[in-house]
Amino acid sequence: MKVSTIVVTIAVIFIALAATIYSLQNRAPNTHPIEFTAPFVFGRFNVPVDNPLTQESVLLGRRLFYDPILSSNNQVSCATCHKQALAFTDGLKTSIGVSGIPLKFNAMSLANLMWGPRHFFWDGRVSSLEAQAIEPIKHVNEMARDLEQLIIDLNNDELYKKLFKKAYGEISEKSIAKALANFQRTLISANSRYDQYLRGEISLSPLENQGRKLFMAHPDTKVVLRGGNCIDCHSQFLTSGFGSKFDGFSNNGLDNDQTLQEGLFILTQNEAHRGLFKAPTLRNIAVTAPYMHDGRFTTLEEVLAHYNGGIKRSKTLSPLIIEADNIAKTQLDHISLNLNDNEITAIIAFLHTLTDDEFLTNSAFSNPFMADTSDD
Ligand code: HEC
Ligand code: HEC
Repeated sequence: MKVSTIVVTIAVIFIALAATIYSLQNRAPNTHPIEFTAPFVFGRFNVPVDNPLTQESVLLGRRLFYDPILSSNNQVSCATCHKQALAFTDGLKTSIGVSGIPLKFNAMSLANLMWGPRHFFWDGRVSSLEAQAIEPIKHVNEMARDLEQLIIDLNNDELYKKLFKKAYGEISEKSIAKALANFQRTLISANSRYDQYLRGEISLSPLENQGRKLFMAHPDTKVVLRGGNCIDCHSQFLTSGFGSKFDGFSNNGLDNDQTLQEGLFILTQNEAHRGLFKAPTLRNIAVTAPYMHDGRFTTLEEVLAHYNGGIKRSKTLSPLIIEADNIAKTQLDHISLNLNDNEITAIIAFLHTLTDDEFLTNSAFSNPFMADTSDD
């Protein structure tokens, strides 16, 4: 065994142990803690003290996640917009719920949500998974469900009554939110080819490896270091984002001052935050098209064309983008990374190593209402 493998293994055991002890302390009587492992590189994880990860809560949350009972017309479930095979996105430019009116935003992937910021949604306006879960249920265009009526309907269902009793004791807005949050916390993706590479199990192809290096490097023409500067903002690309404050939010040049969206400004009312959005996980990015908060790009080629020459200037555009150039002093007029076609192909090849087939097909995350399919 390599030293790095041993370190990772010990760390995994430690984290699993910590998680178990943690859950044991706060869980309700007669519930059972979930055991899970996660790679060391993910770092610390967040579980609220008043919602320990129990098997009972996850079982209930999974059922609720896939149940259209959460919507007013009984046709839309969370999984309508968050499909497992697409890393819990929906393949649409922007999502469509009960009203049939397209939403403002592209559906976000749900993976490794225990790690990263307590700022959910593209503009970070919600601060916990529990608070997040109620939003789509109430939203007129998403599920448009009256919560009081939902609680009555769930109480009329013998199976739900039993499942809620075991997990939380009662059926309430709080327990619905907690169960949904806990199911989503179990959506851990840690076995992409890149994870396997980090564990020393496989090697990447020369092209993928070139792409990995470009992804990780901020270009420096003085020392002839070529780079795509992706890591400057996507440093937590394996999990759901950064851990602290608003580190994970930036303006990556999608719009100019005239068309700049509100973004993080919605939450902070700080002008410097106008047009800043969450840099989402890039895990499984090859299956989560279309891209960006409004789904404006359909392919990774379009995304790379944006970073390589489509950047629009605005007052909050990230300085990291303005500065990054692989040819000295070309960007006064036009911002460009000046990567060549081969380098772009390499970065895209690297992004494909982030696909985790085990996650996309894991039966523990699939629709419990269907015996043997992972989709709805
Ligand atoms: C009609 C489609 C639709 C439905 C139904 C829906 N979502 Fe979403 N979900 C989205 C979209 C679109 C976003 C991004 C919205 C935004 O940023 O405002 C999102 C974002 C999220 C996020 C934030 C992820 C992050 O990294 O910040 C979570 C968590 C989530 N949804 C969970 C759920 C749960 C749980 C349900 C069911 C109760 C649900 N969604 C139902 C479309 C949907
Ligand atoms: C200055 C920070 C910054 C840099 C540098 C950056 N990104 Fe991003 N990236 C973001 C932000 C912020 C978003 C979300 C923007 C939005 O939707 O408004 C994003 C979105 C994306 C998306 C779409 C994700 C999705 O789920 O829709 C991809 C793919 C992506 N970036 C890849 C890259 C690659 C590859 C590089 C390097 C060539 C890179 N990024 C460099 C900040 C950055």
